[in-house]
Order: sequence, then C-alpha cells, then structure tokens
Amino acid sequence: MYLTISKRFEFAASYRYYNPALTSAENERLFGRMAGGEHGFGGNFEVWFVFSGPIDKTTGMIINVSDIKERVGELIEQRYDHKYLNINTPPFDKTIPTLEALASQLFEEVALLFGDSSASLVTCHLSDLSQSSATAYEKGKIERHYYIEFSSSRRTCSPNLSQEENEQLFGISASESPHGHGYKLKVTLSGEIDGMCGMIVDDMTVHSVLDELYQMLDHRYLNDDVEILSGMPMTTECLARVLFEWLKERLPVVRVKLWENNWFFVEYGDTVGCTMSVRSEFRAAHRLHSQYLSDAENLKLYGKCNNLAGHGHLYKIEATVGGDIDERTGALFPLDQFIEGIDRAIGPWKFCHLNNDTDDFDDFPSTSENMIKILGKRIDDSMQISLHRLRIWETPNNRFTLRKQK
Ligand code: NI
Repeated sequence: MYLTISKRFEFAASYRYYNPALTSAENERLFGRMAGGEHGFGGNFEVWFVFSGPIDKTTGMIINVSDIKERVGELIEQRYDHKYLNINTPPFDKTIPTLEALASQLFEEVALLFGDSSASLVTCHLSDLSQSSATAYEKGKIERHYYIEFSSSRRTCSPNLSQEENEQLFGISASESPHGHGYKLKVTLSGEIDGMCGMIVDDMTVHSVLDELYQMLDHRYLNDDVEILSGMPMTTECLARVLFEWLKERLPVVRVKLWENNWFFVEYGDTVGCTMSVRSEFRAAHRLHSQYLSDAENLKLYGKCNNLAGHGHLYKIEATVGGDIDERTGALFPLDQFIEGIDRAIGPWKFCHLNNDTDDFDDFPSTSENMIKILGKRIDDSMQISLHRLRIWETPNNRFTLRKQK
C-alpha cells in the first residue's frame, strides 16, 4: 500500500516564453503569442504538492498539513506570487518559465524545505488553469499534460453482442437512439526537456496534432462517422484505447484520460494499462483527537480540527479499478456494479459523525489517512474486482491517495 497526501496552492504571476539565445522572430516562430512582449503577460496557477511517508500512530497523519501550508506558503509568496517570473524569479531570468521548467523548479525548492521531516515530497503538479499542466516527480522525471474537449454522440454497444445483450450490459446507453457527451481528454507526454523550447515537445506541434484529433471527433456520431473507431465496441474503455494508440504514433504520449462526464473517466496507457474511475461524495462530521495525547497536546496538534463539538466536510471520493478490456463486450467492469460497490462502502458514513456514530475510529484518530485505509478495504470487500487507486478530498485543497503499488 502506498499512501500520499496532496496540498493545493495558488499563485498569480506574469511571464513570457522567450529564449534569449534566439532572435525575436525565432522566438515567435517557436512560441507564437506565448513569446509575448518585453513586459510579459499573465497567468493564474494551481500547484499540488504530494508527500509520502509512514502514518504516525499517535497523530494518525503522514505530515501535519498546517506544516505544509506554512513552509510552502511562505516560499510561494516570496518567490512566485505576484511576480514577473522572467525578472523576479531566478533561474527564469535565464531560462524559459514553461510549465515543465516551473514544475521541476518548484519540486526542487519545496523538497529542500522538508529535509527534517519523516514525509518527503514525491510529486509536484502545476496547472495554468487553462488547457495545460505539468508534473515533476522524484529523480527529475517530468510529464506534460494537454486537455481537449469535444462533443459527440454514440450508442454504447458492442458489435459482438445482440441488441438484447447490449441493453442488458449497457442499459439505456445502448438504446437505438444515440445519446451525447461533452468529453474531456487529457493527453500525457513524457520525455526529456528540449533545451531550445524548454518543453518536452513544443506547444505548436502538440496543438496541431490535437487539433487534427478534435476535428475528427467533435460533433460526430462516433459509431458511424469516425474511421478509426469503426468495427470496435463503442465503450469509453475502447474509445480511450484507440485515441491513445492514434496519439502515440504522433507524439511521445504515455497515457490518456477520457472523461465522459464529471463523475466517470477511463485512463489508458503504456504502464497503467486500462483503468476506470468513478467519483462520489458523502457528508460527514468528525473530530480529530488522539487517545495517546493529553487534551492540551491534542489542541496544539490538531488546532481547530480538535473542536469538542466537532466539524464536518463534504468528502469527495474517486475510486479506480484496473484490468483487461473484455474484447467481446469492450467493457472492463460493469459500471452499475462499480457504482453500487462504492455506494455500499460509503453508506455507513453518510450523514454521520465518524467518531460518535460509528465504531470505525474507536482505536485511532479519524484523519483522512485512516479513513482512506478503512474505505479502501471496504470497497475491495464489496466488489468482485480490486481497487487500483482511491482518492479522498477532505476539502478542495487537501487530497489523500491510496495505491496498491507505488
Ligand atoms: Ni476535518
């Protein structure tokens, strides 16, 4: 089991993509409008820092989130927030502040702040809150993500099944009249950073490939109108696989993530294989309090989360299962069974006080670290397929992730 905690920050800054070793015309050719003018332009950024480490038995935490907030918050305020990165934030006075470069730099700087901690930084995920983001990992590994959205209609069905079998498996989605989705596709590239443009592949090249894909899919009837999809089962799993294979011939793509709506998506890639994820949520109250500590120590450690009368959250969860696509049906696992399994697992916590109304936290604090371990086991027990990954958002700024393997 591999458990991480992620904390979200924001900053706003001005910047431009400009390589001083090139002429203005060359910069414009390479970066387009992103080459900007002398004084730069602006962006709002969201950055997640992901930490891993052992759960402390006494506190029930990997690391105290207020500790992350304090140390990282100060760094971001001093170096990144409301700055002109190309002037105020070395090394970006000499190098191009691309998302790849910014994510790597933030990773290095934040990792240094936690040298004394039992938790260590494992990932930094930086988004410009538009159609792009980058992820920096340990040992300098870097990924860049692009997003496109398209609207298409389809009938969810497999040509290998009878209409009756299709309707049994896919329900109303298999009905004779097509239905539609606004799809969102995340495309992940991995590789070395190109010294000339500061990116894995320059944006202009990536956008021209993604535009070709968009033209092929947007406002089409996927079952009939799109050549690369013909003859295959029309499921989100198979759709993600075909899009991945088409993109991989053109770009160093390692995986894609295809959202059918905001609560269901499929990932397909070289190392992940095929996974499907469902999001859900529940309302619960709790109180952070450790039986191993005095009242004064509890108050010092958990602060306002130690409030005697309790406090609560709208917890968001995301459960992921993985496996092989059934070539006959085109499905990985029946979606309705997946949704039911999650509902059964979160049922006992819905509209409850976790400490007072359940006995799940009699022996340890009701931290999200402990919650995710219990919930992971409960989902596993309630389904025929085992979990690949489980996420809990305690608030929009704090996320916890449990994986079977690193
Ligand atoms: Ni809480």
